[in-house]
Amino acid sequence: MEAILLVGGQGTRLRPLTISTPKPLLPTAGVAFLAHQLARAHAAGVTRIVFATSYRAEMFEAAFGEKAFGVELDYVSEARPLGTGGAIRNAARALRSEPDDPILILNGDILSGHDVRAQVALHTGADADVTLHLTTVEDPSRYGVVTTDGDGRVTAFLEKTNRPPTKQINAGCYVFRRSAIDGIADGEVVSVERETFPGLISSGRLVMGYVESGYWLDVGTPQAFVRGSRDLVRGEIASAAMPGEPGERLVLDGAVVSPRAVVRGGTTVGRGAEIEGGATVIGSILQDGAFVAEGATVRDSVIGRGARVGAGALLDGAILGDGASVGPGNELCGGLRLWPGISLPPTAVRFSPDA
Ligand code: GDD
Ligand code: MG
Repeated sequence: MEAILLVGGQGTRLRPLTISTPKPLLPTAGVAFLAHQLARAHAAGVTRIVFATSYRAEMFEAAFGEKAFGVELDYVSEARPLGTGGAIRNAARALRSEPDDPILILNGDILSGHDVRAQVALHTGADADVTLHLTTVEDPSRYGVVTTDGDGRVTAFLEKTNRPPTKQINAGCYVFRRSAIDGIADGEVVSVERETFPGLISSGRLVMGYVESGYWLDVGTPQAFVRGSRDLVRGEIASAAMPGEPGERLVLDGAVVSPRAVVRGGTTVGRGAEIEGGATVIGSILQDGAFVAEGATVRDSVIGRGARVGAGALLDGAILGDGASVGPGNELCGGLRLWPGISLPPTAVRFSPDA
């Protein structure tokens, strides 16, 4: 089976990490995020993937080449971003499948444990035009909300609505009949969520929902990105691409962790990174060459390449861009983000939220 992987987004919610690296290539549990998706696609029987690229397009081929994880790879780039639907149509140029064959379409920021083979089987069995993987979330307003009837047929698709009629959402993995892709306007900006799906439904084409609510995560926000990495390291979702055994921490080659440091909760310590004695690092990502000094505490945070956390500093839910530096004693909490190269001077007086 062939697949199209949508990886052209700018990943704005993950800035500053995505300034230098597109979201799907950010190191996650020790490897590029996409490595986990490629390994899972291979296990589901996908033999060839066309990457639909736009933002920093050249970096994808440089990262994965012509074949990775047993999957043959091809790359199609958009001169200007064509939206999700336009990107699918554009990438379909490189497909080799026949008009009635099923094509898998994957959003490039989803970690999902669902049974792709079962989704394809439902699609083929129902002779559907499109079959969407659907799952349930607590707050559906940030997603595409999807209603279905008693037979599993999709009756409505509402992208990012304030008044969601259900908690059932589009999980970002579709099976398209090849000829249904060819029905999308060529060379135009099209949203598959706002135009293609509602259009197919209103014109009476068969759009099915494959409902499965196992492990599922969109890693598009800093909080979710850190969580995805942590879950992979701890083995809450299995990945053949993980460079090590599941456990409390993943320490990559050349990293130095003091025996007097506490490092757990699914933390990744990148190549050449260093954690000094008396430091505590929980559920975080230290990219290559990052440094955490003695007595510092880092929780649910991302420390960019070569970025530094000074002695006794506290980071909770923070993002440090590449080469940024937090001087001793500072506290960065609740989603604070430091841009690449920015330095915070040391502080003698520690900020206390209760004062
Ligand atoms: N090539 C290309 N060109 N890719 C694009 C473009 C584009 O113009 N725009 C977005 N993408 C890619 C992104 O890189 C990402 O992999 C995927 O399309 C989805 O874009 P996001 O920006 O992550 O969308 P979202 O998370 O807000 O919403 C989507 O995913 C939800 C599930 O996580 C929608 O499909 C929702 O309906 C869905 O519920
Ligand atoms: Mg997303």
